[in-house]
Amino acid sequence: MRRGSIVRITIYGVLAGIVASAIAVLVPWLPTSASEEFDRIEFAFWFATVICIGVFAVVAAAIIYSVLKFRVQPDDDTDGPPIHGHTGLEIVWTAIPAILVTAISVVSAIVLARNDDAGPNPLRIAVTAQQFAWRFEYPGNEKVVSGRLVLPVHRPVKLTLHSLDVIHAFWVPQFGQKSDVVPGIETTLVITPTRIGKYPIVCTELCGPGHALMRGPVEVVRRADYEKFLVSAAGGGGEDESSGEAIFATAGCGGCHAFSPAGTDAQVGPDLDSIDPRGRPLDEYIRESIEDPNAVLVQGYQGDVMPNTFDKSLSDDQIDALVQYLVEGQKGK
Ligand code: CUA
Repeated sequence: MRRGSIVRITIYGVLAGIVASAIAVLVPWLPTSASEEFDRIEFAFWFATVICIGVFAVVAAAIIYSVLKFRVQPDDDTDGPPIHGHTGLEIVWTAIPAILVTAISVVSAIVLARNDDAGPNPLRIAVTAQQFAWRFEYPGNEKVVSGRLVLPVHRPVKLTLHSLDVIHAFWVPQFGQKSDVVPGIETTLVITPTRIGKYPIVCTELCGPGHALMRGPVEVVRRADYEKFLVSAAGGGGEDESSGEAIFATAGCGGCHAFSPAGTDAQVGPDLDSIDPRGRPLDEYIRESIEDPNAVLVQGYQGDVMPNTFDKSLSDDQIDALVQYLVEGQKGK
């Protein structure tokens, strides 16, 4: 091959590499990391991306050079020269990709193993998913259950994930880690938050009509603020957690129903602002609709959409509080 050709191929390769690098770097493909685990995932991501850009540059250079150099004239109908392969070239283009793919596998395996390791003393929080809400149970002298996920910064957290009904998936984009939440088994997820702030929890498994609304906030706070949250949620806030308003939020009612006192406006299920009890006592009708949603169907809504598990997942006291909250929130009352 002549020197001129090598120079031209190199120039094409460098140009292709610059274009691909610009697309990789200038477009914000990933959210800003807020956990140690996501930092490692980003490393694996960039490790693979740099290799891909290199391979792309070589292939693009060969293609551009060939298209320009070996172009035939419009009236040239002759066959191309017969070529019988090139053993040296074939060994090179098999061996180099094999080495690169192996390197990506090794880096990914190390990242996966380290991202699964919570260390000797993680904070263990039990996460319960149900259509269409998240609930969190914190360790401590007093059991604290809340619809809010609050995490202390720089402390490894091991989430144990349970589902009461169908398959959900727990994901916080800024934490990187993601796991399915499967009924009947326990899955886990390790997160070590590094940045104080508020991020979204997103359900990423289609789990029913309220799936798109199955979201919640996670707050990463200072250690002292985490302790304060636990005290307020367990003590004075304990009452809060068992109020009708809190149960409406943690049971996920707002994922499907509009209810002005709770500030929700979802349209999956009937509006709860002005419930028509069909001549029956309002509280009795509401209780029946929570425990057995198919008993009476409001016109325009189908059965088997609302989970029929609330009589099991909520205690009698909780259902009482929820009924009370709904009765008091009726418009025109
Ligand atoms: Cu839960 Cu989608």
